[in-house]
Amino acid sequence: MENQEIRKPEGKLGVLIVGLNGSVSTTFLAGILSIRKKLANPIGSLTQMGTIRVGKRSDNNFPFIKDFVPLTSIDDLVFGGWDIRDENCFDAAKYAKVLNDSDLKNVADDLKTIKPMKAVFDQNYVKRLTGKYIKEGRSHYDLMTQLRKDIRLFKEMNSLDRVVVIWAGSTEIFIEEKDVHKSNDAFVDGMMKNDPDISPSMLYAYAAIAEGAPYINGSPNLSVDVPAIIEFANDMNVPISGKDFKTGQTLIKTVIAPMLKMRLLGLNGWFSNNILGNRDGEVLDDPGSFKTKEESKLSVLDSILQPELYKELYSDYYHKVRISYYPPRGDNKEGWDNIDIFGWLGYPMELKINFLCRDSILAAPIMLDLILFADLAQRSNMKGIQEWMSLFFKSPMHSENVVPEHDLSIQSMKLKNTLRKLMNEMPITHLDTNGVEHTVEEYECYD
Ligand SMILES: NC(=O)c1ccc[n+]([C@@H]2O[C@H](COP(=O)([O-])OP(=O)(O)OC[C@H]3O[C@@H](n4cnc5c(N)ncnc54)[C@H](O)[C@@H]3O)[C@@H](O)[C@H]2O)c1
Repeated sequence: MENQEIRKPEGKLGVLIVGLNGSVSTTFLAGILSIRKKLANPIGSLTQMGTIRVGKRSDNNFPFIKDFVPLTSIDDLVFGGWDIRDENCFDAAKYAKVLNDSDLKNVADDLKTIKPMKAVFDQNYVKRLTGKYIKEGRSHYDLMTQLRKDIRLFKEMNSLDRVVVIWAGSTEIFIEEKDVHKSNDAFVDGMMKNDPDISPSMLYAYAAIAEGAPYINGSPNLSVDVPAIIEFANDMNVPISGKDFKTGQTLIKTVIAPMLKMRLLGLNGWFSNNILGNRDGEVLDDPGSFKTKEESKLSVLDSILQPELYKELYSDYYHKVRISYYPPRGDNKEGWDNIDIFGWLGYPMELKINFLCRDSILAAPIMLDLILFADLAQRSNMKGIQEWMSLFFKSPMHSENVVPEHDLSIQSMKLKNTLRKLMNEMPITHLDTNGVEHTVEEYECYD
């Protein structure tokens, strides 16, 4: 299948990761290198293993997504990035302790060649981290300009056709939208004057967009999600997306909550508790960083359950999210959800979920999908917020005049219909035409 309006994925695609030495990043990199060597399958990746139905149900046509849309091959990805410590990705992956030694040994030589560039970092925004491998500059603007130079050099030195930048760095403290974030002019002025409401993640986002590179935000930080940078991305014709990879508990929440609403079951309370022992858990132990994560995790239920429409069912539920730093568990997060619901005649019931997951194992394939879809979006002349990529985010970015879509199944349908539209195929609405008069030929395509 071909769409002339989508530029072909020719040449190499650079992937610049902010937080290159983190658990998610190194698990992602080790995974890609193993998959390239045919030592593993890309489990969890929609772009690599997912299929898409095309045409009527009776056509029985389910191509792989990677054969349906022109995606960059994982063999054509070239990796780089920034971090606050001068370690190669093999040493960093060993420190992360997500993958065992035998898996890392297979890709050790390649991982050792991937090293970070000096970061733009300020401990005021991530209290629990210290690092020496950081850039110095006269102003935020100067630091942003240095990041732009890094992107350009990386592109030149590796003879790259295109670059995508993804934030997989630590969660910054909670920042509210202020005047400096409202317009591009105010933001540029703020960078010149070192405005404290401009965090490092915003400088990476701005630099990426200025260099024409799609920017993805895997953390809950505001980062690219402020009017000034959204406006800049639109002006520069650059796709952006975020926020916060949807991996464990929220993934489950966005499946269970829609089910409750679909079946009109009421909710009295939802208590989500987590223990986590990796560096992310340590960073989130700081109240400022936790507040950013909490806002992201709490936003989900209200927008799915719509209490303003379903007063008798959802106007009075108690929602609590906790993350406790517990070092013995490392990256193997354990989540408990206690959900108090009620049904016919108000009789109470309980639902308990105990998810023993692995944070970075769930996040790595999402990172791959986001990178490949962001590149596809750019080659398809899509710009600004890419809401169709909401499937991968806890707190999806959305336009000002609409609410975000959190329901996982709607997000999936939205994503697949966007791919169908890109390839000039009919969207699938699942409309049942049996018994419905359908004189319009178009309906034949739906079923
Ligand atoms: N793993 C998951 O399931 C998951 C889900 C959603 C979101 N996230 C988010 O993804 C991010 C990464 O998670 P992780 O487990 O890999 O954390 P991590 O602590 O292992 O890695 C973060 C890395 O970012 C680096 N860093 C911090 N500030 C930086 C800066 N300004 N510039 C460059 N590098 C910087 C740190 O040195 C560290 O190497 C976190 O914000 C986390 O909240 C993770």
